[in-house]
Amino acid sequence: MSQDTLKLSVARAALAFVPEGKILGVGTGTTANFFIDELGKIKDRITGAVASSEATAARLRSHDIKVLDLNDVSAIPVYIDGADEINQQGTMIKGGGGALTREKIIASAADKFVCIADESKLVSTLGAFPLPVEVIPSAHALIARKLLPFGGKPILRMNGQAPYQTDNGNFILDIHQLAITNPVALENEINNMPGVVTVGLFAKRGADICLLGAAGGVKTLTFQ
Ligand code: 5RP
Repeated sequence: MSQDTLKLSVARAALAFVPEGKILGVGTGTTANFFIDELGKIKDRITGAVASSEATAARLRSHDIKVLDLNDVSAIPVYIDGADEINQQGTMIKGGGGALTREKIIASAADKFVCIADESKLVSTLGAFPLPVEVIPSAHALIARKLLPFGGKPILRMNGQAPYQTDNGNFILDIHQLAITNPVALENEINNMPGVVTVGLFAKRGADICLLGAAGGVKTLTFQ
C-alpha cells in the first residue's frame, strides 16, 4: 500500500472529528492536503477554518472554504494536522513543511489536536527526523552555535541558493542527528533562546489523538 493511500485513509477518517457548525484548525503538509480535499466535500459542516500556512489557506479557498484570521476567532474546538514524527505519548516533531510556528499557535488555541499520519511517522525516540527551529534571520548563526551543545548538527534550511523563508519571513535551522530523550526540557530550553521564534517540538502541547494509517486500516491512538 502506498504512503499516499495511507495518507488518504487517515484524511478520510479525520472527517469524523470535524465539528458541526464550528471553526476548524487546519494544518500544513501533504497529509493535511489530502484532508483539505476531503473536507471540501463536506465544507458546509463548518463555519470556517483557521489555516496554519499560506499554502493551506490557498488550498482551503480553492474549495470555497472560508478562511478566518486567528485574531477574529474565539474558539477552535479541533485542530487537524500531520506530523514528521510522533511517539507513544503524542509528542511530535513538526515543521518539515516550515509552518511550525503557526501550527504551534493554533495547536495552543485548540481544544483537541487530532494528528493524522501514516505509520512510518510513529517512533520510539524522537529525533531521526531533523528538528526544525524557526529563528529570526539576524540571529541564525548565533543560535546555530548555541544549539551545538545539545548534540545535534544544526543546518540552515535552504531554498536553492538562498535561505528558506517561512510565511513569517524567518529562517529555519534543522537540527540533524538528535536523540530527544527529554522533549519537554528541550522544548523549553530552545524556546527560551533569544532569537528563537519556536522549536518544532510539540511536547508541552502534543496530540490528543493520532489517526495512524497502516496497511491493516486506520489505528486510533489516544493520549492523555
Ligand atoms: C508542516 C508540518 C507537517 O505536518 C509535517 O511536515 C508532516 O507533513 P507531511 O504530511 O507532508 O508528511 O509540520 O510544517
